[in-house]
Amino acid sequence: MTRENTMKNLKEAFSGESQANRKYLAFAKKADEEGYHQVARLFRATAEAETIHAHTHLRSMGMTGSTAENLDAAIEGETYEFKSMYPAFIDEAADEGEKQAERSFRLANEAEKVHAGLYQKARDNLGSGESFDYFLCTVCGHIAERDAPDSCPLCGARKQAYRLVE
Ligand SMILES: [Fe+2]
Ligand SMILES: [Fe+2]
Repeated sequence: MTRENTMKNLKEAFSGESQANRKYLAFAKKADEEGYHQVARLFRATAEAETIHAHTHLRSMGMTGSTAENLDAAIEGETYEFKSMYPAFIDEAADEGEKQAERSFRLANEAEKVHAGLYQKARDNLGSGESFDYFLCTVCGHIAERDAPDSCPLCGARKQAYRLVE
């Protein structure tokens, strides 16, 4: 097997394991809602295992650089999503009358802009030693610095929907 095949396979495995992680967490939430707490625990344990696999694949690809490089990669990824990927997806969902998907894409698109901005700020201030908290809107993924707003500027969720990120 050539080096190119292994790279392609690592990429595919990383993608699959990453998706399995998110899927199992969603399944765990559903299992908890249905009262199957034992199954929920199994989904959560397996989700963590898939994260371990995803991370070892990522390291094998040499895709974790210095923090400065990683911030650059993160800015690039988020920017691609809100400048190119989501706008096209939003248009297609609208064309096909897929309202729920369109809303999901729109919310994510707005959040990605904020993410890119925060990463850029962190990149600019790297090494400044500044310390403050981030708050995550658990409804839409908006991130606020220092304090949670009274309501989410993206989805309108109330302050209580924000969670302090450790
Ligand atoms: Fe993002
Ligand atoms: Fe939100």
